[in-house]
This record gives sequence, C-alpha cells and structure tokens, in this order.
Amino acid sequence: MKRPKISVIGAGNVGATCAHWAAVKELGDVVLVDVVEGMPQGKALDLAQAMPVAGWDVTVAGANDYDATAGSEVVIITAGLARKPGMSRDDLLIKNTQIVSSVTAEVARRSPAAKLIVVSNPLDAMVYVAQRTSGFTHRNVIGMAGVLDSARFRCFIAAELDVSVEDVTALVLGGHGDSMVPLVRYCSVGGVPLAQMMSAAKIDELVTRTRNGGAEIVALLKTGSAYYAPSLAAVEMAEAIVRDKKRIMPCAAFCQKEYGVGGYYVGVPAKLGADGIEQIIEVELDAAERAAFDASTEHVRQLVASIKL
Ligand code: LAC
Repeated sequence: MKRPKISVIGAGNVGATCAHWAAVKELGDVVLVDVVEGMPQGKALDLAQAMPVAGWDVTVAGANDYDATAGSEVVIITAGLARKPGMSRDDLLIKNTQIVSSVTAEVARRSPAAKLIVVSNPLDAMVYVAQRTSGFTHRNVIGMAGVLDSARFRCFIAAELDVSVEDVTALVLGGHGDSMVPLVRYCSVGGVPLAQMMSAAKIDELVTRTRNGGAEIVALLKTGSAYYAPSLAAVEMAEAIVRDKKRIMPCAAFCQKEYGVGGYYVGVPAKLGADGIEQIIEVELDAAERAAFDASTEHVRQLVASIKL
C-alpha cells in the first residue's frame, strides 16, 4: 500500500516539530515547505537521517515550492508570524491573513482532495481564511486549538492532583483566545467529575492558567510561541484523519446551526475521520457556560468580520 503524504507548510518551530511527530508516528511520507531557502531541505534531511536510527519507514523531504506537496492526504498549515511577548493572537490578523491565504491557494491547487489542518493564529480566523481561499467543503478544513487547550488543562490538573495525565479528560470549547471556555463540568479524573477532586478556587486558578497557556510560554521564550504541544496536537488530528480513527476531539469546526453559531469556525467537540469533520457534537451547556461560549463566539465573529480577503 502506498504511504499517504502529509505536507507541512512552514518549517519554523511548529512546522518542523509537526514533521517530527508525523515521522515518529509513521503517519506517512512527510513534505516540509518554507520560503526560506535551504531551511526546509536541511531540517527534512536531518529528520530523514534519524529514520534509520529509529527504524521508521517514511521519507521526509523539504522544498521551497509547492509541487512536492501534490496529492497530499493532509496538509498542516503553520505558516505565519508567531506572537512576541505582550502581543495577542489577534495582533497577527492582517499579516497572517495574507500569508495563510497565499499558501492555501498553492496547496489547494495541488491537493484538491486534501484535508487542511490550520494552526496559524489567530486560529479561528485563519481557518476561516483557509476555507474561503481553498473553496474546500467545510468538513475538510479544520482548525487546531481545542486539543492543545484541553491538553494544557489536563496537564495542570494532573500535576495538581499528582495523577496520570492519561486519566484526566478535559474539554475546552470556544475560540482559541483569552475567552476560550474550559468546561469544568465535563472534566473528569478517572471518570470522577473534577469538582469532586479539587476545590472551586483551585479549579478557577487552573482555568485561568489554561486560558493564558499560550501567553505563559510566549513570555518565557521571549522570541516565539509554543511548539511541542501545538504540533503534536495538530499531528493527532492528522492521525485521526489518515487512520480513519473517528476520534472525538475539540476542533475549530465550521458551525452553522450547531450551537447557534451562524457560519463561523469555533472550537467544538467533533468526530474526526477519513472524511474530515464527520460530526459535530452538541453538548448541553448551562446558562453560565452558554454565556461564556457566546461571548467567545462573538469575539471570533468580530475578528472574522474585519478580515479583508
Ligand atoms: C498557543 C499558540 C499555538 O496557544 O496559539 O501556544
């Protein structure tokens, strides 16, 4: 059987680490594209030379143009500027709209059947840009945010309770920004609701830390944003598609009637498989959760309304 092709656009920290995780999972042959001459080729060659050590049978290639991406099954779009300390994700809107729309046009032309996973920020707006530019059906264009945000929440909960991260489930919905909505009622530890395991004050503290999870790392790194967890989150989504796993993951999905969103991308639980977003799952929200979700969606709506394509 021919191996699937996974292309990663942008060979910075997020993109190169996506290529790394995709190779580690032997998800398929990996193509890494960036405009910087030599850089994607160099990183790809280095990664390819790790394959014999590990015994992973995939190829890794780097390129400055898009021809090598032709026929991709999944394309992960990481191109764009990252935040610097003090910047919000929204500050990247104008520049990254140009970058994401131009790379999406190149990719879409060569891989019309691909599923696109967008990582560039501001996420909910950039996945909208990618869908509009590609003209792909909405279910084939998906944003990565909820897997990352939920993982951050799970990481903090597990550390606080001194339990395995494996046993902590969490659900973070809404936009990928300060107004994201960690749904505490839907978090559990080995099946036990979080509220039975932790004080309300501690939960609040971890919710706030989750909302600021990206900014906390930007402030520490000073020259860029997080990449290990964001890239693995994107590759988990790619894996669900390539291996038709039908995983339930929080994704930035296009919601029309769902949650009453009215035609925007926003983080919701979805089933991810060979057909991209195969289902959007509507969870019950109480009044406070609904208000928080609506506020987050309203923020996304305003951001998208300011996009000039
Ligand atoms: C973060 C970036 C990927 O949350 O948005 O770290």
